[in-house]
Amino acid sequence: MNKSSIIKNTEQFKLDDSGSYDSCVADYHQCVNRLCEPFVKQMVAIAHLKQGQRVLDVGTGTGIVANYAAKLLDNSGSVIGIDLSEGMLKTARLNAKNMGISNVDFLRMDAEDLDLPTESFDSVISMYAIDHFPNAAQALGEMHRVLKPEGHIVISIGSRTPPWGAGRFIAYCVGINRKIKQLFQPHLYAPNFIQSMMNNHLGHLPSPSHSNWGGGKPENSLLRIIQETGFHVKDMLWNHNMITMQSTEEFWRSQTAIVTEVRKRLQNIEPNAKRSFLEDFKKITKKALSHGGRLYYCGAVFMICAIRK
Ligand SMILES: C[S@@+](CC[C@H](N)C(=O)[O-])C[C@H]1O[C@@H](n2cnc3c(N)ncnc32)[C@H](O)[C@@H]1O
Repeated sequence: MNKSSIIKNTEQFKLDDSGSYDSCVADYHQCVNRLCEPFVKQMVAIAHLKQGQRVLDVGTGTGIVANYAAKLLDNSGSVIGIDLSEGMLKTARLNAKNMGISNVDFLRMDAEDLDLPTESFDSVISMYAIDHFPNAAQALGEMHRVLKPEGHIVISIGSRTPPWGAGRFIAYCVGINRKIKQLFQPHLYAPNFIQSMMNNHLGHLPSPSHSNWGGGKPENSLLRIIQETGFHVKDMLWNHNMITMQSTEEFWRSQTAIVTEVRKRLQNIEPNAKRSFLEDFKKITKKALSHGGRLYYCGAVFMICAIRK
């Protein structure tokens, strides 16, 4: 493949990836709002925002981080949220309006090519987005450029088990606890549930590679590229939670909106195959509920806070 077709594929990948959210923005927002509030608060807390500061949220989605930070700055400072998905940006703007927030702007922009002045932000935050950028190192380079010296960057990725430290032991205990519960009650846990169901029904496919940071543990890769970009790592945290889904419909909508490989795959299969997949999904979840089981969504996050030297 020559260089121009790689670039064209990369640009097409970005449009397809961000465009894949457009048809499920409302479901995405509802679930992220319920699941991620503690993670958002934790990310913003470790960014140590101060009154009067300027903050950038990269891959802002429906603006959950940007709107929270803007509210915290309370008009003394300002926030810009950038994203490539028009659907996400429209909802982010509406959310800001409904929350009465006026010190936030949402702009359509590529994370790998920020149309923003050098050294113009005190903090850059990016939640669950960096592994969507084909060239994550390029995006981090841009975040480094727009940050002021000594500014904070906080980046998070989804991470079911932390790669090291006490968090690994906690995750192990959580897993055992879940397995014991399943012996007595047929609980179902997202997002593992839909992923394994999809593999069983439609055949196993390797997850599409989002970025070029290579194989291995994404947490290690994130740490490496943050350091290689010239940031000084200050904090690394892992967190998790579990929320009860109120219905089979919510269990379906949340997973098909949030889990990228599932969302993209379902958008590309025959309508009949999708219908029969949904029917089986309903059958299994209804059976679990009628036997006293519950439907849970398990969220987990790994975040790194670093300083621009
Ligand atoms: C998993 S969502 C995270 C959204 C939000 N940060 C949150 O936590 O709810 C990933 C977001 O990255 C956006 N995105 C993907 N590629 C992008 C790019 N090259 N530049 C900017 N945003 C991008 C998507 O449109 C999507 O809104």
